[in-house]
Amino acid sequence: MTREVWVVGASKGLGRELARIYASEGRTVIGMSRGVPPTEGDFEAYLQLDVSSAHDVNAMIARLYAAGRRPELVVYMAASVYQGSITEEPEHLLRRQIDTNYLGFVHLCKALVAHRPDNHRLKVVATASTLAYVGCPSLDNYSASKAALISFARSARAELSAHGLSIQIVSPPHMTNGGADLVGPQPFSVAWSARHFARTTDRNCGETILGRSNGLMVAMSRFAPRLAARIMHAIGLDALQRGAVRLDRSTAPET
Ligand SMILES: NC(=O)c1ccc[n+]([C@@H]2O[C@H](COP(=O)([O-])OP(=O)(O)OC[C@H]3O[C@@H](n4cnc5c(N)ncnc54)[C@H](OP(=O)(O)O)[C@@H]3O)[C@@H](O)[C@H]2O)c1
Repeated sequence: MTREVWVVGASKGLGRELARIYASEGRTVIGMSRGVPPTEGDFEAYLQLDVSSAHDVNAMIARLYAAGRRPELVVYMAASVYQGSITEEPEHLLRRQIDTNYLGFVHLCKALVAHRPDNHRLKVVATASTLAYVGCPSLDNYSASKAALISFARSARAELSAHGLSIQIVSPPHMTNGGADLVGPQPFSVAWSARHFARTTDRNCGETILGRSNGLMVAMSRFAPRLAARIMHAIGLDALQRGAVRLDRSTAPET
């Protein structure tokens, strides 16, 4: 049987590249995101989905299982980034990051448990970030939303495993595709990150931080927390002083 992977947040960036790798390995890939499907042919199907709607996520997963789909792997990539002063962050972008980076994953896990047939086991991957472990000025709410994602994944792991879901947490490194504007951390290419991400999801490990400098920073946050905080503060304050800005303009503000 062809191994099937669902990538939630597959229209661009790491999710798009990951889909390409899985397809090149002969796996069936189903992509999902809000936008129109990418034109290249790595996807057997591409479905429009906004993960911030619990109702839509539930309906989509129900439909896929009802159609006989049985993924062995579901990778949750969907993310929204705001970079800039927290004092100026609009309310709708604060909420969008929590909805997309954290609650969408919760919606997904609940829907998978609700609709999977009893004998179907699968792995679900939460895509986190080094910033979830160390935090960073100018990316305060983004860091917090990823920390919430990790905390949820760790907490829910035991209960969800009884429902056939194993949870993996993978943190990509800082990449060159225009995620956050940070001078300091070594940026990795999307291709490198996707290759290592794909390899990690094929292993059975609980929590992985990709990129040596990122792993070092997380280790430092445990064993020398003041030094880690000082480094991240310098990086984040530099971004604020330079006026580094990332705004998620993908949809109009909610009213
Ligand atoms: N880039 C970095 O340096 C970096 C570093 C560490 C961790 N990460 C994490 O790695 C992952 C990939 O990063 P990236 O930079 O490659 O991301 P990206 O290019 O910004 O892509 C994000 C994906 O999420 C989808 N998405 C956004 N909001 C959505 C929603 N409400 N519902 C469904 N899909 C939604 C987007 O598609 P649509 O717009 O079509 O919905 C897109 O496919 C993210 O989780 C990110 O937080 C990135």
